[in-house]
Amino acid sequence: MGDLPAPRAIEETRTPIVQLLKPEGEGRRARVEGWVRTRRSSKDFSFLEINDGSCLANLQVVADQSMEGYAEIAHITTGSSVVVTGAMVASPGKGQAVEMRAVAVELVQAADADYPLQKKRHSLEYLRTIAHLRTRSNTFGAVFRVRNALFFIVHEYFQKHGFINLQAPIITASDAEGAGEMFRVTTLDPQQPPASNGAVDWEADFFGKRAALTVSGQLEAEIFALAFHDVYSFGPTFRAENSNTSRHAAEFWMIEPEIAFADLAANRRLAEDFIKSLIVQCLERCPEDMAFFDQRIEKGLIAKLEHVLDSPFETISYGEAVRMLEASGENFEFPVAWGLDLQSEHERYLTEKKIGRPTFVIDYPKEIKAFYMRINDDGRTVAAMDLLVPGVGEIIGGSQREERGDVLRSRMEELGLNPDEYWWYLELRRYGSVPHAGFGLGFDRALMYFTGMANIRDVVPFYRTPGHVEF
Ligand code: 4AD
Ligand code: MG
Repeated sequence: MGDLPAPRAIEETRTPIVQLLKPEGEGRRARVEGWVRTRRSSKDFSFLEINDGSCLANLQVVADQSMEGYAEIAHITTGSSVVVTGAMVASPGKGQAVEMRAVAVELVQAADADYPLQKKRHSLEYLRTIAHLRTRSNTFGAVFRVRNALFFIVHEYFQKHGFINLQAPIITASDAEGAGEMFRVTTLDPQQPPASNGAVDWEADFFGKRAALTVSGQLEAEIFALAFHDVYSFGPTFRAENSNTSRHAAEFWMIEPEIAFADLAANRRLAEDFIKSLIVQCLERCPEDMAFFDQRIEKGLIAKLEHVLDSPFETISYGEAVRMLEASGENFEFPVAWGLDLQSEHERYLTEKKIGRPTFVIDYPKEIKAFYMRINDDGRTVAAMDLLVPGVGEIIGGSQREERGDVLRSRMEELGLNPDEYWWYLELRRYGSVPHAGFGLGFDRALMYFTGMANIRDVVPFYRTPGHVEF
């Protein structure tokens, strides 16, 4: 692909600070547009620290009292928006290689004196209450720049490997997980819904039947995999689970590759290669932001991620996991026994204390996993895989899919699902069905893992959790 022409307006007006801070920038004249982090003024000089979100570092601007309009600078408060034109020069001061000698400083708007992001550090909890301004802090600047890079890297990875992207529908009539945790989508009047036989008449609703926000694009991704071989969906997903934890959001993004003519081992290989590629690219493309996380958010983060790259992921079966937990001598809050689901405390013990690196747990009892997972030959377990990582716990859930129509149908019946509602999903098992597999990586949880941010609320631009839908 050739270079795209820059839109005229952008090309001719502003230069992002990230470009000006390169040493080659010296001597260059430029115009910057941004927000003032701090100002120090003396009789002869003013120093402004300006940030425009393009990088972690601020641009230091030096204004001389001989500059036209120098008196105006006294009105510039922290948080003010400014436009500065000037020339880049080598900086005599510590902390930056280059700085800008201002020719003109235009105050666009002075921030009111109660601007909440004065220089002192704020708690992440407090910053959540000002999500409209936290984007201007160092931490959230770094978080959302890495989030941006990761979004692109995800697409690039799959595009480079020949996967076809599908945009799975957001409104759907099928519960992809069969867990009944869906947000309803309706235009019916909640005060007076149309009724038939004393119950709500969903046929009178917008879509002529019950509709909801999707919990996963997997079922549609399977349709695509059975035509395009290797595919991925990457979109928002929604869960109405009332879990008020640091890793659950009601709206989150999921990356869901699906590969045809493939089994669980191939699925695991893809997941490991994918996670490692994401780490390599994050470190390579966001070195300053990643260094910031390493220093300020999770000490040793970069060494931890490099260690992940150097060693293969572990794989254990659910049965082995249960035996490890039983033998651990730990005092868990939730019980451990074959057939019970692993809780977050168990997952973290396994991956953090016992194994110390990312770990696939495979072959779960069929009772605790979704209807679409392939039944193993033992008849009791399914070809499931969860990837657990230190610090976060589960970041990936996936499986080989049940490609045998009769087995799938009886699984649905066993679980009380109505096969008629999944008629098209069952039909895929009649016309050229093949073994296939896939997984879902929680995009927000992956970002937590890569940045060390401990709460999902701090990696999502505007989070939605039980009781919270502000901004
Ligand atoms: O394990 P889950 O529920 O798997 C699926 O939805 C499959 N249909 C995916 C597939 O095979 N195509 O969810 C997958 C991942 C989890 O491992 C987790 O990282 C993330 O999605 N996730 C959440 N992230 C944030 N908030 C929530 N409430 C989440 N629920 C799941
Ligand atoms: Mg899961």
